[in-house]
Amino acid sequence: MAKEKITKLLNKDLDELNIFTYKDVDSTNNVARELIISGIKTGLVVADRQTAGRGRTGHSFFSPENSGVYMSYFAPFDTDPSTPETITARAAVACALALESLCGTRFGIKWVNDIYYGPRKIAGILTEGIFSGDGSGYYVLGIGINVSTEGFPEDIKDSAGALSLTGIIPSHEEIIAGIINEFTRLNTVPWLEEYKSRLMYVGEAVSFAENGNTVFATMLGVNDECALLARLDDGTVREIKNGEVSLLRPHR
Ligand code: BTN
Repeated sequence: MAKEKITKLLNKDLDELNIFTYKDVDSTNNVARELIISGIKTGLVVADRQTAGRGRTGHSFFSPENSGVYMSYFAPFDTDPSTPETITARAAVACALALESLCGTRFGIKWVNDIYYGPRKIAGILTEGIFSGDGSGYYVLGIGINVSTEGFPEDIKDSAGALSLTGIIPSHEEIIAGIINEFTRLNTVPWLEEYKSRLMYVGEAVSFAENGNTVFATMLGVNDECALLARLDDGTVREIKNGEVSLLRPHR
């Protein structure tokens, strides 16, 4: 990973961003956490491979060499106007906009923060918070993108999603810099409409988990805090702040 190339592609106001590049790490989110503990406030960690990449809800994130971008951006919460909940949604918009401009095609966002190309997931985001005793806090925004399925086992190669399906394979440095440029730009401009216009499953029958039960509903959209709004069969509307939503009748 060429650190200088990433710096060159970043917007001018990000010239001073600390970038840490690695060949192998367990998880870039763990490395970011260690850097914060060592006193570094803002930075970007990227790795060629993760041996213990993780996703939301306890899933692992398969992170072989050459196939994907694995990156974690970290910063103090108080430098950012977004709430912890909306940082993740803003990052999803940043990923979609950056990848769209590199690949020349449109991507969807599956609530709350998965990026899809057609019916296939190509990127995921895991945001974690780190808080110290004095109340100060940092967020670690971990982003994983399948660029190609090169390092994937044969049995999942054909069904996995990757940017290469668009026919264009940008360099890892272009992807990383593009996403950081968009994420920091969106700090100061409205982005919710961009999120809503890419939101998948609106108006469709979905299910989600609530207190251990599966609830069936029609997905209505999101509110201004990016909480999911869904109408149950009895007409009541639920606001869901976290979890997963699934489509009842998957598209073919
Ligand atoms: C998901 O799909 O549920 C989220 C996946 C997030 C993966 C990225 S890869 C970089 C960072 N390091 C991790 O261990 N996870 C995130």
